[in-house]
Amino acid sequence: MTGSDFLRLDPRDAPSRGRTAWLTAQIRAAVADTTLSAGARVPPSRELAEELSFSRGVVVEAYRRLTEEGLLVTNRGAGTRIAQVVPPAAQPLRLPEPLEAVEPLQISEGAPDLSAFPRAAWLQAERRVLATATARDLGYADPRGVPALREALAGWLARRRGIHVPPERILVTAGVTGALSLTAQTMRERGLTTCGVEDPSADGNRRILDYWLDELRPIPVDHEGIDIAALQASGVRVVLTTPAHQFPTGVALSPTRRRELIAWAERVDGVIIEDDYDSEYRYDRAPVPALQASAPERILHISSLSKVLAPALRIGWMIAPESWTDDLIRRRWATDLGSPALPQLVLAELIGSGVLERQVRRLRLRHRQRRDAAVAAIRDHLPGCRVEGIAAGLHIQVMLPEGADDADVARRAASEGIAVKPLSAYRFSPGPPGLVIGYGPHSSARLAAAIATLGRLL
Ligand SMILES: Cc1ncc(COP(=O)(O)O)c(C=O)c1O
Repeated sequence: MTGSDFLRLDPRDAPSRGRTAWLTAQIRAAVADTTLSAGARVPPSRELAEELSFSRGVVVEAYRRLTEEGLLVTNRGAGTRIAQVVPPAAQPLRLPEPLEAVEPLQISEGAPDLSAFPRAAWLQAERRVLATATARDLGYADPRGVPALREALAGWLARRRGIHVPPERILVTAGVTGALSLTAQTMRERGLTTCGVEDPSADGNRRILDYWLDELRPIPVDHEGIDIAALQASGVRVVLTTPAHQFPTGVALSPTRRRELIAWAERVDGVIIEDDYDSEYRYDRAPVPALQASAPERILHISSLSKVLAPALRIGWMIAPESWTDDLIRRRWATDLGSPALPQLVLAELIGSGVLERQVRRLRLRHRQRRDAAVAAIRDHLPGCRVEGIAAGLHIQVMLPEGADDADVARRAASEGIAVKPLSAYRFSPGPPGLVIGYGPHSSARLAAAIATLGRLL
């Protein structure tokens, strides 16, 4: 076992700046969660520096700080060890850093592991695009998006989501958010100023709809997904839903509910906005096909690269019922003439060359291992708590024991340097307490340490 294995460190988690603070915090957390017990010998600084590809000075400085805190002791000839009695001042992530501030550990959002972004492949594809782009490619693009990307997406969606549409029907958007914003504005144009939204649901999406529309009506979600009887009773004709993996409860819409939802849309002459945000990550079986494939004239399907490549790209897509498409394109044209063309051309290359496919495979494996680690840590450290939902996505909803105050737990976690969101933050109406834990960006050891801290708070 190498020194970094012993400490369960993954250098890919380290920030490019502030590595000393990062390493110091990691060792502190390892002591706090007893990964490192009193008397254990830490690796020599030269060895650890080599394994992590850090400069030796970073490790020496981290050891020096921890020695000053009393967490490490150095004996001539016996190397550096964890102190027998850990002083109270050495609690994890609580100490103000003398030189660099430690960022809170973000386990609050369902982000992917952004350290896995395929930088080299992106650069290569960008070079190829720049070497071959025509003058026309560098002019004003079609507001629907560049044809090469829409063609690549048509194949991608057919293979992966069971959606069969010609490229002309695909609109490239600024992520799911851009698609929702266009949709809400087009709804308003058509006199549809009220929208149903799942309760609980993603607050970001809700804020966008709330900005453009007059009213959002919460529709409860249970273990089968959105409650169709409540949807019918709400009187809305448009609903935003996450059928493949409900956010945040993690349930998949049951086959019966899928049929009932489509039947509801037919009955009220309505539209279902299908937010297909993380369907690439299903760990127990192949993902279910998109709802769009079952009722193309009732579904506005939206998705993005935010969970597969990076939210910063702001690239997503939308497939709307034919009767909506022209209005959506006109609105996109009138807003900004469409998305920037160069990143779209790069993405088309990445799809065409199989890079995106490999990236999804690689990330699915990594995220699955992290989910397993988080579930195991919840079992070990959060007794009386329950993991909800299917094995999928980038987040887990954990139900807390009855009577717990999830907002209070989240507040106390923040003071321990852990940013986690309470389930109540996603709800319209009060309900059982829970936490929503995002595991994508973090190593198994880090997740275990953070969840152990949550356990202590509970
Ligand atoms: C439910 C849900 N939908 C969509 C998104 C992605 O939005 P965007 O594509 O605008 O980045 C997120 C991001 O966290 C999300 O949680």
